[in-house]
Amino acid sequence: MRIAYTAALVLCSSLAWSQTGADLADGQATFRGNCAFCHGLTGGGGRGPILNSARLAHGSTDADIKNVISAGVPGTSMPAFDFDKDELARLVAYLRTLSGSAAKAAPVAGDPVRGRKVYERSGCAGCHRIGTEGSVYGPELTRIGAGRSPEYIRESIVNPSADIPQEYGGVTVITRDGKRITGVRINEDTFTVQLRNASQNFQMFQKDEVQQVIPETKSLMPAYSSLDKDDMQNLLAYLDTLHGDLNAGAAVKKAEGIR
Ligand code: HEC
Ligand code: HEC
Repeated sequence: MRIAYTAALVLCSSLAWSQTGADLADGQATFRGNCAFCHGLTGGGGRGPILNSARLAHGSTDADIKNVISAGVPGTSMPAFDFDKDELARLVAYLRTLSGSAAKAAPVAGDPVRGRKVYERSGCAGCHRIGTEGSVYGPELTRIGAGRSPEYIRESIVNPSADIPQEYGGVTVITRDGKRITGVRINEDTFTVQLRNASQNFQMFQKDEVQQVIPETKSLMPAYSSLDKDDMQNLLAYLDTLHGDLNAGAAVKKAEGIR
């Protein structure tokens, strides 16, 4: 009797266990299939921010996280997902298991005030905008600290060609008289190519009127591989503080006719 009772208990509790285990496995599969590409295989971040942290920019309650997943973050590469209630719950339960795996709650080491000086003297603003300041040749950095992991940002600076956002691919046009114009490819079809040059001006070329159109495989950003260690750390600390309003720069861009 007693033995049967214990066996039943064990059976019962192991059923309960396998239920949770299956839920988490399901959440993990959803995560790997839909999210890992940007947030890293274990939520360590990449093209998207770190998720295995207690410190989430959009809020850390289950409701906050579900909301971000269902609505996406308009104006960024975070898409909106159409999961049903149960799938969403399993996904968030899985995300919770990741946050135990890393204590990334501390801000990035370094001095952000010095980092800002490094940013200014390295000519970054010649290509990037923060808020309403700077250029839009390269991507806006107003929210870079909320949008990318510190490791991804470091890689973007020392080895920018490693991962080039699709909308910032470069192209070089060689005109008939041998002039080379390089810029961000805005649009290309069978007959024309449009680019934004380093002075932030649009240029359109008819393909049959130029000598050659060459897609750039390397980034238009120079690699800053010789920044000294402290400068680099301070720069990363500064960029990590940038959680600004997405729309601040967007209004300016719109006024200037830049997408
Ligand atoms: C194409 C890239 C991409 C994919 C795929 C993606 N995300 Fe994101 N995600 C981002 C970016 C970029 C942000 C930051 C948006 C911003 O600037 O606020 C983000 C933000 C988030 C946030 C808010 C983080 C914070 O700090 O508050 C959560 C939570 C999140 N994503 C979960 C997911 C989940 C879960 C999936 C899969 C179902 C997913 N994401 C798929 C790019 C992506
Ligand atoms: C000559 C123009 C130019 C300069 C100068 C420049 N960048 Fe960039 N940067 C770009 C372009 C173009 C991209 C997009 C292509 C890529 O990711 O390689 C980019 C990408 C980035 C990214 C990745 C953005 C993202 O959303 O993925 C970061 C971070 C960045 N730059 C930081 C910096 C910092 C910090 C400096 C100064 C130390 C700097 N850049 C100087 C043109 C420039």
